Amino acid sequence: MNLEVKTENYIENLHWRYATKKFDKERELSEEDLQKLLESVRLSASSYGLQPYEIFVIKDTETKKKLREAAWNQPQLTDSSHVFVFANFRKIEEADIDAYLDNIAKTRNISREDLKGMEDMLKTTILSFTEEEQRIWGAKQTYIALGNLLSAAAEFRIDACPMEGFDNSKFDEILELNSKNLTSSVIATVGYRSEEDNVQHLDKVRKSKSELYTIL
Ligand SMILES: Cc1cc2nc3c(=O)[nH]c(=O)nc-3n(C[C@H](O)[C@H](O)[C@H](O)COP(=O)(O)O)c2cc1C
Repeated sequence: MNLEVKTENYIENLHWRYATKKFDKERELSEEDLQKLLESVRLSASSYGLQPYEIFVIKDTETKKKLREAAWNQPQLTDSSHVFVFANFRKIEEADIDAYLDNIAKTRNISREDLKGMEDMLKTTILSFTEEEQRIWGAKQTYIALGNLLSAAAEFRIDACPMEGFDNSKFDEILELNSKNLTSSVIATVGYRSEEDNVQHLDKVRKSKSELYTIL
């Protein structure tokens, strides 16, 4: 395998991607592309591996219209093919940690007793957070998943726009997140760019390496 070429492609794809302003309204995400994104995001890293969030993927036109109204009328909400809404747990319960430990035991074919040390550590740490600390911590994890979605989308040449410009409490209401112990943190609209979106031709504006990095 020629790693050098792969790396070049990866960086080229990161240059190709941009926060899409105008999507091609007529193009729906292919099932294959959707599945590639779902699997990429599912594989996101998270602190302790707990993944204290769920992700809503919205294709339904009526729901997207409502979400657009709650997102300062940004057209990407209805013009894109799918809207990804990342929603972290409002409160992390003991049962959530137990469910995670059960999953480890099942996946790796080990007994729950063998995970006792991990169980104590996770419960002591996470359950001692205030609800606000849990929410902030959970929201941070969703941004890792968002970053993964953006990089994966670029790799597969799918377009996306990460977005914080939305009313989080209205989104929670529309998607009935409160009753599911969830709250929306960040969203991404996903689909394929319109040829008319001039933003795609603009050069990337980023800090230079010397401004960004301190290498000691
Ligand atoms: C967390 C986050 C929130 C953002 N919110 C919005 C938004 O609400 N609407 C929008 O059009 N772009 C939004 N953007 C896009 C940024 O403006 C864009 O990523 C940035 O200017 C860099 O440009 P590029 O992604 O095209 O390379 C957001 C980006 C991030 C990462």
